Amino acid sequence: MAAYKIIDHTYDVVVVGAGGAGLRATMGMGMAGFKTACITKVFPTRSHTVAAQGGIGASLGNMAEDNWKWHMYDTVKGSDWLGDQDAIEYMCREAVPAVHELEHFGVPFSRTPEGKIYQRPFGGHMSNYGEKPVQRACAAADRTGHAILHTLYSQSLKHSCEFFVEYFALDLIMDADGSCRGVVAWNLDDGSLHRFRAHKVVLASGGYGRAFFSCTSAHTCTGDGHGMVARAGLPLQDMEFVQFHPTGIYGSGCLITEGARGEGGILYNSAGERFMERYAPTAKDLASRDVVSRAMTMEIREGRGVGKDKDHIFLHLDHLPPETLELRLPGISETAKIFAGVDVTKQPIPVLPTVHYNMGGIPTNVHGEVLRPTAADPDATVPGLMAIGEAACVSVHGANRLGTNSLLDIVVFGRAAALRAAETLKPGEAHKPLPKDGGDLAVSRFDRLRNANGSMHTSEIRNAMQRTMQMDAAVFRTSKSLAEGCAKMDQVASTLPQIKINDRSTVWNSDLVEALELENLMDCALATIVSAEARHESRGAHAHEDYPERDDVNWQKHSLALVKDGKVSLDYRPVHTYTLTDEVEYIKPQKRVY
Ligand code: FUM
Repeated sequence: MAAYKIIDHTYDVVVVGAGGAGLRATMGMGMAGFKTACITKVFPTRSHTVAAQGGIGASLGNMAEDNWKWHMYDTVKGSDWLGDQDAIEYMCREAVPAVHELEHFGVPFSRTPEGKIYQRPFGGHMSNYGEKPVQRACAAADRTGHAILHTLYSQSLKHSCEFFVEYFALDLIMDADGSCRGVVAWNLDDGSLHRFRAHKVVLASGGYGRAFFSCTSAHTCTGDGHGMVARAGLPLQDMEFVQFHPTGIYGSGCLITEGARGEGGILYNSAGERFMERYAPTAKDLASRDVVSRAMTMEIREGRGVGKDKDHIFLHLDHLPPETLELRLPGISETAKIFAGVDVTKQPIPVLPTVHYNMGGIPTNVHGEVLRPTAADPDATVPGLMAIGEAACVSVHGANRLGTNSLLDIVVFGRAAALRAAETLKPGEAHKPLPKDGGDLAVSRFDRLRNANGSMHTSEIRNAMQRTMQMDAAVFRTSKSLAEGCAKMDQVASTLPQIKINDRSTVWNSDLVEALELENLMDCALATIVSAEARHESRGAHAHEDYPERDDVNWQKHSLALVKDGKVSLDYRPVHTYTLTDEVEYIKPQKRVY
């Protein structure tokens, strides 16, 4: 192995990722007095949170009566009873102060005529325990994530946090006692390697949408935290639950916010029928995402898709007042023009369900502490390691996330991680010496890939993985498609050692970045397809045609996937069937209708 110069750093806390979750945690750690570093592979305001559009969920009640308990009920129902209700209670209760906090930080929310935060309807948001739709999505036009990300970045700069921008995190430093002691990262700009020692490492590295061929996720969403956790011998939870957003633009995958339907947009099939009335008589186009995505897929399958190949659906906004489009939906009006060539005031947008969000991820408790479940203690934690945001699985989204609960999740649990650190750690506490081999795993992986001299380019292997996942881990799954998917992914993963890197430089080497990312994506893809194949029921986003019903007796449990050398072993841990406080009761499983 080549000798690499390693630069050492010592912090109380290191956060990996500078999206909304990472920035809220970084800011909170700084406020608590911790010497905090935030490592990010892209400039903070380019993180994928910038693409979140429609809103952040909170029962402010600005447009009509609302209640955090109704929000909790909707979230539990949306999760198809796989979410942990203690965590859901925490998130929905904290939502209202979290949004007020963002308002005070300076997020430029849209306003009602009286000056209150504007709230729009969104899928699965109902009043009075499912009775009728309620306006709960707090919006900054259709650029809510953009507004939040920029505000959180400026706030975190106020608290003396240090940013390591365009640093790619390679691997965790784990001690023999199972605790996490830091992380190793590569500075893309000058090629140096950096060993960050920390009492707490917080993974806020986002999802892994790019394991699929067509997704709304940025190219940076490559499951880097998931990969590091898998290589540290820790499990990934509920990875089979992948959300398809009903309205990705046909062909490009760009997101058209659910807020478009919240403002009155309607989905039509080729017969000119508002088909959602048949599938969800109460919520119609604003049913939960899994329900709408399945309905659209059924329409297309049954020959009622639109276009020359009858393979997509039309979203009509042309009946909405032009001033609503201008004021509330300026971003998607522009996106539709650029990516579909459509003037939304006159023409429908061609849309298709598109991979959007990973409900599964690194298992944590409500404090953001990463779990290493054992039979004796399914809630045992890994000292020194936290995860938040889409990288994590708390689990507040269970089998299907409600729109707007992702922006909520990142701020609530970003804050919770900082609060937990403040409870368990003092600024400036002494560090134990690092393990002798601290960082060796990261450096040898870097060196192996940098010198990889096989016969396949990264893009070839990535393309095979993405197409397999798109085909076999789709909106609808069958025993056959999943078995074939597992076999194909086994084969695709076995080609990883054949990677060829053409550029041996350590500076701005995108060839090497993509190879490192591919290894992370591959672990995510394997965990997803194997967990899906094993789950013999239909729940939320996992619609299994050979097991069309939810099976609470056998399957109300979280999947745990351990990925090692391209092989996945599965285990399970119980769903929390209890709440955090006595103020609410456990919501027992019910039939899920909208
Ligand atoms: O449709 C949207 O605006 C997406 C929001 C979300 O995923 O929460």
